[in-house]
Amino acid sequence: MILITGASGSIGRHLVHHLRGEEITAFVRDPAVGDELGCPYVVGDFDDPESVATAMTGVDRVFLNAGGAQPVTGEQPMVRQQRVVIDAAIEAGVEHIVKVSVWHAREGAKLAEGAHWVIEEHLKASGLAWSILQPSGFMQNFRTGAAVFTENGDILGAYGDSRVSYVDCSDIAACAAALLTVSPRAGETFVLTGPEALTHTEIAAKLSAVAGREIGYVDLPAQAFAARLASNGLPARFAQDVAALFAEVAEGRLAPTTDAVADLTGRPPRTFDDFLRENAETIRESWSGSAARVSL
Ligand SMILES: NC(=O)c1ccc[n+]([C@@H]2O[C@H](COP(=O)([O-])OP(=O)(O)OC[C@H]3O[C@@H](n4cnc5c(N)ncnc54)[C@H](OP(=O)(O)O)[C@@H]3O)[C@@H](O)[C@H]2O)c1
Repeated sequence: MILITGASGSIGRHLVHHLRGEEITAFVRDPAVGDELGCPYVVGDFDDPESVATAMTGVDRVFLNAGGAQPVTGEQPMVRQQRVVIDAAIEAGVEHIVKVSVWHAREGAKLAEGAHWVIEEHLKASGLAWSILQPSGFMQNFRTGAAVFTENGDILGAYGDSRVSYVDCSDIAACAAALLTVSPRAGETFVLTGPEALTHTEIAAKLSAVAGREIGYVDLPAQAFAARLASNGLPARFAQDVAALFAEVAEGRLAPTTDAVADLTGRPPRTFDDFLRENAETIRESWSGSAARVSL
């Protein structure tokens, strides 16, 4: 049986769909979400290790995914939470874990990139068979506008004119589904990207066409962007770290594309236009208001 953690998230929901017909259990915090997913589920919380241990009963494969970086001082909660899952999996005799990480996870990096590196190392040392997915930025970040906006509803960032090879969460889920079923490929790390790399000006133009209003991209120097985030309520240190990550993206580190999605799924990755077509209604509803939103 496959345990799907993060089943209600932007990848997990697609994975539940991709694994229809397989023996799966979703790990959810809220039973109402489990009911909505329409598959067998178990209720628990990464912060309740006993619930995680109970969820492992009868499980031989685990999809490991949780929320992203939090504005905390010290270790990111995802490190503690994902260690709990890995340790419970070892205890339960699980065979294979497929983990969602992040592209450029590395020792000593800020926020998610540093936290995922620590978890990856823990997983690699666990003795379990593992596969690691390192996605580029998610196209789904643009689904409901989880971004920063000007008062006019333009996208605000510090990416410069660099390109980002955003990947569709449906493709990440399809790769995970392949690894959990037909093609385990244990001991490999896969960098997952979309088929093209776009600038944020190009993305804003594409979103404008769907939303039915003019959306621009406004670029700020990293320090001004950090100040803007802080003025919107983010803790100053966290805002600095987020802006530093954006500055690294501005250097083009998320611009390359890979063939990992095609390699794992046997078909090309979805384009940003595919993503927009499939999510047009939600995007129109979220982005059409001229005020949009002015905070994270
Ligand atoms: N966003 C990007 O562009 C991007 C790019 C590369 C990598 N990543 C990585 O991808 C991962 C997913 O990020 P996301 O923000 O997109 O996630 P998400 O879609 O919001 O999904 C997070 C999932 O984790 C579950 N969860 C959170 N805390 C939990 C807890 N204490 N116990 C049990 N379940 C819990 C959530 O369940 P509930 O429904 O109960 O909240 C949800 O199903 C992160 O590790 C991030 O670093 C993100």
